[in-house]
Amino acid sequence: MTKRQSVIVAAALLLAIVTACKTNQTSSSSTANGNSSSAQSTPDHFAAVRSTWEKECKSCHGTKGEGGPVKLEDGTKLKVPNLQDERARRHPDSDYLKQITKGGDGMPAFEKKLTPEQMNDLIRFIREVFQPGAVPAK
Ligand code: HEC
Repeated sequence: MTKRQSVIVAAALLLAIVTACKTNQTSSSSTANGNSSSAQSTPDHFAAVRSTWEKECKSCHGTKGEGGPVKLEDGTKLKVPNLQDERARRHPDSDYLKQITKGGDGMPAFEKKLTPEQMNDLIRFIREVFQPGAVPAK
């Protein structure tokens, strides 16, 4: 190989590497975009909603949505329904959204604290994590 030939080979190799890197970058960033805009249950998607659950809901509903008797700081005693049971599984998303937005029967309203998007994420989270296979009424 002449010196000139090896320069050409090196340049071609470099070009190949750069192209490969670019291809990787585009494909990985498009995957990331796809995940954040879709409703997929990726670990990242759940990380955000799980922390909302832990901050706003867990004190009454429990880590797994199991509910049960709860005593609030002001001494109020509540019977929190189990989100895993058949009754809860059948309740439609629209009931859930209303309950989270407006509260009632011991549950606070979250309309000023959470965005509709966060509420819908919470509902999806409840369905997928606490009620796998649930077929709620429409
Ligand atoms: C102060 C305690 C408390 C907190 C905090 C709380 N809840 Fe509740 N939640 C309740 C009680 C009590 C009920 C039952 C109300 C009833 O009997 O109608 C309930 C009912 C529900 C229901 C309806 C269940 C069904 O079977 O239809 C959903 C869904 C729900 N809560 C979600 C949430 C979410 C999501 C959060 C956090 C954003 C949250 N709750 C925070 C006490 C609480």
